[in-house]
Amino acid sequence: MTPTAELEQLLSEAVALINQAASPDALEHVRVTFLGRKSRLTEIMRSLPTLSSEERAQTGKHANQFKAAIETCLAQRRDALAAAPVAAPLDVTLPGSAVAHGRLHPITQTIEAILAVFTPMGFEIVEGPEMEFEYYNFDALNIPKDHPSRESFDTFFVDLPSPDPAKGRLLLRSHTSPVQIRMMERCRPPLRIVVPGKVYRPDPLDPSHSFMFHQVEGLMVDSRITFAHLKGVLDAFLKALFGPATKTRFRPHFFPFTEPSAEVDIACASCDGTGCSTCGRKGWIEIMGCGMVHPHVFKAVGYDPAKVQGFAFGMGVERIAMLKHGIKDIRLFFENDLRFLEQF
Ligand code: PHE
Repeated sequence: MTPTAELEQLLSEAVALINQAASPDALEHVRVTFLGRKSRLTEIMRSLPTLSSEERAQTGKHANQFKAAIETCLAQRRDALAAAPVAAPLDVTLPGSAVAHGRLHPITQTIEAILAVFTPMGFEIVEGPEMEFEYYNFDALNIPKDHPSRESFDTFFVDLPSPDPAKGRLLLRSHTSPVQIRMMERCRPPLRIVVPGKVYRPDPLDPSHSFMFHQVEGLMVDSRITFAHLKGVLDAFLKALFGPATKTRFRPHFFPFTEPSAEVDIACASCDGTGCSTCGRKGWIEIMGCGMVHPHVFKAVGYDPAKVQGFAFGMGVERIAMLKHGIKDIRLFFENDLRFLEQF
């Protein structure tokens, strides 16, 4: 083989090895093999004086090209290795790095727990708008204008022209009950719905008040529905949510949109009804409002109160979450402090 042919073959070997080299050390090894003192190149250079002048010129030129080509390749590979990210050696004995995982807000969790009791009973989940007409929030619910009961639902009015003046001014709904009206306007009975959502009341912030909070409303309408159905459904609900030993009590109350109306209490779990600081020495804790749908409400939606009956209920989600988890300040739900949220 002529020295020129040999150099060509060596060059292709060298290029292959350079491109495979995975570290600067490996590259140096290739360099020494092909360009070092003991390399074939050095031997060929040493043999130049023994060649004829024509051969010497040829071989010398090829040897220089060979060397330059290898040096270029080495430099390129060195740059490529320097730019590549260094893979950290894998130590399988190190503890893994913890992945921070998100979770549902305690209010969302509580809403889901409440709805999960009603949906197997056949209640459908529906939602309504947070900005409402006066008509749905008040009038259709048998809360007449200038009636003192309107004042118990202090309200944020919205400073926008009403798109439907016949339905009154716009406001932020003060309860989820308007969704009862919207659903009954759209659907014929029988009807079973639960309605989660935000409500707004201009209360100053304190440990038990917030200008925005959540309610879950319920409505069941059919023929021959009685107060016994109301009691049965809500008693089963409260036992599902607070435990099978939960005692419940229905206390007469007033709501304009239900008649008769009641408030539902559960026996205080801390003192089992004997009276302690959790229940304010009463032994009972108020959980929700309820009642049989008022005939005026049925009339407002075009149902015949002689043919259908129904019950409705409404509960505050924050209140239930506070009771379930022993939380003493409603504001904690809205501050988004991770030290609080991470506990759920
Ligand atoms: N809407 C009432 C409130 O916000 C609760 C309620 C709903 C009472 C349905 C009776 C029936 O306080």
